[in-house]
Amino acid sequence: MTDTQARSRYTSPSGIDRDALPWRLWEKAKKLFWDPSDLDFSKDKADWDAMSEETRAMMILGARGFMVGEEAVTLDILPLVRAISDEGRLEETVFLTSFVLEEAKHVDFFRTWFDAVGADPSSLPGLGGYGDGNGGGGAADIFAGELERVMRRLDNDRSPEAFLDAGITYNQFIEGVAAIAGYKGWAKFLEANGNPFPAFQEGLALVQRDERRHIAYGTYLCRRVLAAHPELWSFVEQRWAYLTKPYLENRVAGRGRYVQALIDRRLEVLRGALDLSVQEVEDTTLEDLEATNELVAS
Ligand SMILES: [Fe+2]
Ligand SMILES: [Fe+2]
Repeated sequence: MTDTQARSRYTSPSGIDRDALPWRLWEKAKKLFWDPSDLDFSKDKADWDAMSEETRAMMILGARGFMVGEEAVTLDILPLVRAISDEGRLEETVFLTSFVLEEAKHVDFFRTWFDAVGADPSSLPGLGGYGDGNGGGGAADIFAGELERVMRRLDNDRSPEAFLDAGITYNQFIEGVAAIAGYKGWAKFLEANGNPFPAFQEGLALVQRDERRHIAYGTYLCRRVLAAHPELWSFVEQRWAYLTKPYLENRVAGRGRYVQALIDRRLEVLRGALDLSVQEVEDTTLEDLEATNELVAS
């Protein structure tokens, strides 16, 4: 590599684009930093000790499902970071460093909670697949092979389809549908049990705030690729059906409509990019994109 090549590789000639959506997400990530170690779990421990065995078992299954999901996305995110950095996308790579740290932090948070209350996540058989405590559903092997396959595809395949596959599976489906449906179920469960575990609830709210940025980034990524390659829309529809149909069929009664709304919303937001140029996608404001996450908070 010559000196000139080295300079162009490592020094962005235009500096940092501070208005770029990934950079704005990075700024938010810095401002909204939190540490699971700062949470006070003493009331959670007292709540746990006062809880029936049956409720404890449900709590273990639910929290373990979330933890399994966070461990999986932490272990499988790195190929995306490498693929984006290889394209020289500085602002995106900088944001992704916060993304990786936050997924690791989420693992830390759930494991810290188990340790603080003295619960053993391996004390019950089976593994909750989607992180919502319902033991998975169709495409139930998402954390046992499918996510890893899709993310590792980027190690050898930098095609637009490979980036889309990663964004659809990781950000749109796991973060944008399965995790959010899980939070909703979780809120109902806690409410039905007298709203215990204040530190757990506080941490879960902070996790959701982080996830909004992750989903916003993944949506930006998919829309950027789709604006440049609208011919890949049939691939998107096919992958979306593969991931969501069996999942929806396994939803517990009463949450099907909410999950369907999440599923429809994510696809609609991606479809919107088909009418846009790449520049128009780049110019989409963070506020516009975060508004597409309105169901996250509801
Ligand atoms: Fe996470
Ligand atoms: Fe995430």
